[in-house]
Amino acid sequence: MKNEEIIVIEDNETMRLGIVESLRREGYKVQAYESGPQALKDFQFKPVSLAIIDLKMEPMNGIQILEKIKAQCPATEVLMISAYGTVEDAVKAIQLGAADFLTKPFSPDELRIRVKKIVEKIQNEKRIQELIEQNLLLSDEAFSGYEEMIGNSLQIKKVFTLVEQVANTESTVLVQGESGTGKELIARAIHRRSKRAEDPFIKVNCGALNDNLLESELFGHEKGAFTGAIRLKKGRFELADKGTLFLDEIGDVSQAMQVKLLRVLQDGEFERVGGESTLKTDVRIIAATNRDLQKLIREEKFREDLYYRLSIIPINIPPLRDRKEDIPLLVDYFLNKQAGINRQKEKQIEIVGMKLLVDYRWPGNIRELENLIERLVVITVGDRIESGLIASHLNQSLNIATTYEQLPLEKAVESLEKNLIVQALKKANGVKNKAAKYLGIPTSVLYYKMEKYDL
Ligand SMILES: Nc1ncnc2c1ncn2[C@@H]1O[C@H](COP(=O)(O)OP(=O)(O)OP(=O)(O)O)[C@@H](O)[C@H]1O
Ligand SMILES: [Mg+2]
Repeated sequence: MKNEEIIVIEDNETMRLGIVESLRREGYKVQAYESGPQALKDFQFKPVSLAIIDLKMEPMNGIQILEKIKAQCPATEVLMISAYGTVEDAVKAIQLGAADFLTKPFSPDELRIRVKKIVEKIQNEKRIQELIEQNLLLSDEAFSGYEEMIGNSLQIKKVFTLVEQVANTESTVLVQGESGTGKELIARAIHRRSKRAEDPFIKVNCGALNDNLLESELFGHEKGAFTGAIRLKKGRFELADKGTLFLDEIGDVSQAMQVKLLRVLQDGEFERVGGESTLKTDVRIIAATNRDLQKLIREEKFREDLYYRLSIIPINIPPLRDRKEDIPLLVDYFLNKQAGINRQKEKQIEIVGMKLLVDYRWPGNIRELENLIERLVVITVGDRIESGLIASHLNQSLNIATTYEQLPLEKAVESLEKNLIVQALKKANGVKNKAAKYLGIPTSVLYYKMEKYDL
């Protein structure tokens, strides 16, 4: 896995040796240089996967080296490091194509995690590149959609290809993506295309239940295990035997439950709550989350060992705003779907309206888009959905934003978020499921936020 070659360009000897030492210990092939020109001379003849570059150096600084490297070999990933990391430097480096920016001092662990993340990205890209070369990437005309998933962008086709590739394996899959990007849809597609398709697909929303309930949901309980346990109950791990278990919102699981999950993932063994005997289960695990697990790991809220167990095959679904070419397809698809549901002729959207939809940021992603189309169809009497109507729906969120300009960013965001939640709750007459749908977030997240904002 780790035969990626890395170069380190750092003028401070102690620092350089430290980085080299900790990366070699991880099994990477590492070559070190004390200045840019020296490194670039070698790089010319032998490009590498990853370059770790110090920012402040003579005679060439890190940004200049980064530019040269990217010009010679765009595929080489760059991790910038700096002691005086200013925001501008970081932004500049990222704009010029650096994959990440690390501020000194950092621990060997921090370095290891960041490098690992970049190497994973490199290997993923390579895998996809190979598929493209072997012509296995789904061909254009056949795939303006896949299963019931719509999309024709390169980004989403990469996701479909991965689904195709992993479906028939037993590997654990971790689906990551913002809320409403289609994580559950992907999980179901993997199951349907796997050897386990005839056996159950069982879903557990790990974010919606407290520890006790979750434990008994997952592992079941014996009769009399606790007050209210009037009969034996099989857990989802048992029910999903031979099938697929979908652990949704895995990022919301408590530390204590993480330990329990780790065990069953490691050896497929568990006990029912209040039970003595150890049970075995044969399930394929697909987990999903909209949280940044790497960040949770850094904050020590998510176990790294569990993360590595889960993310054998990571599938990242890009947000809708990063694959805008899918928006018109999705709009058409949802208009058509609404027409079917309402048994009406399909309603039309003008080009201007479509452009508004394409330009919008879609924080709630496809779910938000689907909900908006439904709303527009319902309130439009004729065949044509007016562009002005679309603008006013989208502007509701935009206009509110401008009144927050005076506040510091975090406060502004919080205040805006609170307002949007209040509005949604009003519109939904206090029905939280409905409000969550309007906002394009899971109900569990709404509960969490309502508590946070004291609503
Ligand atoms: N590619 C797609 N084509 C058509 N519909 C899609 C696509 N992706 C998602 N959807 C629809 O968008 C909605 C949200 O999808 P899904 O529930 O899978 O998202 P999610 O990522 O699990 O969201 P959350 O994080 O909020 O749980 C669903 O109604 C789903 O059918
Ligand atoms: Mg979901």
